[in-house]
Amino acid sequence: MSNMEIYWFSGTGNSLALARDLALITGARLKPLAPLIKAKTINSQAEAIGLVFPVYDFKTPKIIEEFITKFEGLENKYLFALCTYGISPLKCLEKLQHELAVKGYKIHAGFAVMMPHNAVGNISFSNADREKALTEGKIRVSKIAAVINNRQIIPVEIETLISVLLLRGLFFKVIKPVSSLLLHAVRHGWESLAFTVNDRCSGCETCSKVCPVNNVTINNSQPVWGNNCLSCFACIQWCPQEAIQLGTGKIRVMRYHHPEVNSSDLIYMKPQTESDY
Ligand SMILES: Cc1cc2nc3c(=O)[nH]c(=O)nc-3n(C[C@H](O)[C@H](O)[C@H](O)COP(=O)(O)O)c2cc1C
Ligand code: SF4
Ligand code: SF4
Repeated sequence: MSNMEIYWFSGTGNSLALARDLALITGARLKPLAPLIKAKTINSQAEAIGLVFPVYDFKTPKIIEEFITKFEGLENKYLFALCTYGISPLKCLEKLQHELAVKGYKIHAGFAVMMPHNAVGNISFSNADREKALTEGKIRVSKIAAVINNRQIIPVEIETLISVLLLRGLFFKVIKPVSSLLLHAVRHGWESLAFTVNDRCSGCETCSKVCPVNNVTINNSQPVWGNNCLSCFACIQWCPQEAIQLGTGKIRVMRYHHPEVNSSDLIYMKPQTESDY
């Protein structure tokens, strides 16, 4: 068994799927990050540590920063990061590298892997786009596994805005929906984009069960959202009735979760009660 641990955070399964593949190839132990985050400190005997997570707004999710702050002894370990993204990571891993450097830690390798986007807004990716991203993601993981098994030190992967603009048609696919979402927020306020539930809701509680920070409670068989949201989109994307929407429901939600991940995978790896969390 390799002396490596892979800590993962995932809303719609892309990062979990890649973390699982990576653990399978490297023999690393797979560790969900969400249940650890309320601990005072996080410790590990492993010699190598991996962080796998999605890119949010070209940055790491807030929960990753909290994890790094609590993890003791990272300076003595081989540390790598793998972020998954839908359009571009831009300088997400460079920002992470900077945050780690401030704390006296070094990142030894950083990989950015394109996966299907889990966006909301008037955006659509074809099944062919998704299949391509899923297939290429798997291929990338086997190459990444070789790098980390050899404890290679390589620069973190970044993309510049210029290269994205010049090289990728995909970027233009999102400019319109993102700007219309922003315009909507400016016109109607950010609260107009809050999660709401429509009458398709069956009261199954999946949205509450998958939320990694227990931010969704069920009241009278309907979800109610608290103020601790990580914007992971798990609640909206795992709802079997597609009953969760933004605001009044006029904004389109593209439904997606990773095809090889089940909501139960996320549920059993998360804190079950507020006191566990
Ligand atoms: C709130 C939010 C912000 C996002 N921001 C970006 C982004 O800045 N760049 C990008 O390429 N993808 C972005 N995405 C897409 C996700 O990074 C991508 O689909 C990722 O693989 C999802 O991982 P998961 O399935 O493990 O949650 C964003 C998704 C969400 C929910
Ligand atoms: S997952 Fe969907 S159907 Fe189930 S309780 Fe939540 S909103 Fe209702
Ligand atoms: S409320 Fe929904 S989007 Fe927010 S953290 Fe929970 S599951 Fe993720």
